[in-house]
Amino acid sequence: MTRIGAAALPPGPPLPPAVQAALMWQYWPRYVAACRRRYGPVFTLRVSQLGTVVYLSDPAEIKKVFAGDAATYHAGEANSMLTGLLGPASVLVVDEDVHRDRRRLMLEPFTREAVARQTRIMAEIAAADIAAWPVGKKFPVAARMSKITLEVILRTVIGASDPARLAALRDVMPRLLNLSAFQLLSITSPDLQKRLLWRGVRRRIDEADRLLYAEIADRRADPDLASRSDALAMLVRAADQDGRTMSDSELRDQLMTLLVAGHDTTATGLAWALERLTRHPAVLAKAVEAAEASAAGDPQGDEYLDAVAKETLRIRPVVFDVGRVLTRPVDIAGYHLPAGVMVAPGVGLVHADDRIYPDADRFDPDRMVGATLSPTTWLPFGGGARRCLGATFAMAEMRVVLREVLCRAELVPTAAAGERQRVKHVILTPDRGGLIEVARLRDPRRPGSPEADAALLRGGRAPAADRGGGDPA
Ligand code: HEM
Repeated sequence: MTRIGAAALPPGPPLPPAVQAALMWQYWPRYVAACRRRYGPVFTLRVSQLGTVVYLSDPAEIKKVFAGDAATYHAGEANSMLTGLLGPASVLVVDEDVHRDRRRLMLEPFTREAVARQTRIMAEIAAADIAAWPVGKKFPVAARMSKITLEVILRTVIGASDPARLAALRDVMPRLLNLSAFQLLSITSPDLQKRLLWRGVRRRIDEADRLLYAEIADRRADPDLASRSDALAMLVRAADQDGRTMSDSELRDQLMTLLVAGHDTTATGLAWALERLTRHPAVLAKAVEAAEASAAGDPQGDEYLDAVAKETLRIRPVVFDVGRVLTRPVDIAGYHLPAGVMVAPGVGLVHADDRIYPDADRFDPDRMVGATLSPTTWLPFGGGARRCLGATFAMAEMRVVLREVLCRAELVPTAAAGERQRVKHVILTPDRGGLIEVARLRDPRRPGSPEADAALLRGGRAPAADRGGGDPA
């Protein structure tokens, strides 16, 4: 971690880095928002493990970062503490040309068309899970969402179908993603994994690796590889202009990245959507109508469900900021920032700005209906060349799962206070897990739902099977 003199830097709290790290760990969004109020739109935090972090909340300055040269703004370096889990070849932790080439090889499974082909299975997985939800008592929906989104990734991205391997992956992945703060030390400092206290973490990674390598071997040997639609098959087939394909260990690192980046993030976005909806009965009622319309094939229903997802990710961003480490000095926000500083476009700060979103604390999906969203004022998926690779996938999944929930489970509105944002590794989850209550479960294909049945007959498929996802940005 480079020690950078204070002279050239924007103002910030004069607290020791260890104290600021503790504050971030416990109160991340509140601490950063308090600094924004105290020091203005650009400020400096000094945080153990992260170094000197300059937060940005002005969209014009954020635009410079997102449009900046990849050789100057290193996102991979900012994410490097994840290397111990994701591996050195992960698209998340590399920079410059290596990143550009690797990301190019990974685009195919995340195009709109490829995602649209996966939405039916997303709906089936969600419907099967919802059918087992408890009725008449509160439960934390984040855990159910986590199960649904893990299953979606295992089936559509990894393409796993062997029952024993699927069961083993369902078991080991949550155990890898729910590491305690103490266990996480061995991800940021992988050498610790050799020590007795952290060997358990190493064993979990080894077990996950064994399963992922087995999938890779199966895919390579599959005579139907050319026609398979899972992301792993596409990654095995992908070749750059010189015909170079990914090695087994590169494939392993990308699979682990997609599992880690794409599972709890989407689950948390969904849990927040239900946490917000159940506290806004009028919006909930409108969302239920939209879900039924969507299931009947009405694009306006889709549009409102997408608006709920967009507004949720605005008001409760799963990822509160993104980082770029400067490799050379840069003039930004009126400061000459030295190399080594991490600049952090503050996603949550921009989303909470009343000048951009009037009455920003109000959950109001209507503000998203028909709105043209700018990449520097609505940025839950980050931006520029590093914008989330799975954004289209995540938005489609949020729409499909929300539709299944709202069509199949009658949710009980609540007057309880909203749940606080709790820091979980690099994401912000509802602190009670998104407690919801279901009054009753219903089958949307019940008699008396003629539109849904008509859609079923027209499309020859289940009514809630999707017609494709959309990336709204
Ligand atoms: C609501 C759900 C999600 C949220 C909020 C989210 C958010 C983000 C953010 C903020 C970044 C960093 C962007 C930046 O630095 O500018 C990112 C990167 C990434 N995400 Fe997502 N993500 C979600 C779902 C997914 C899904 C479903 C996948 C894949 C299955 C995925 C795969 C990735 C990958 C591979 C990257 C690295 C991109 C790169 O460095 O080029 N994410 N995501």
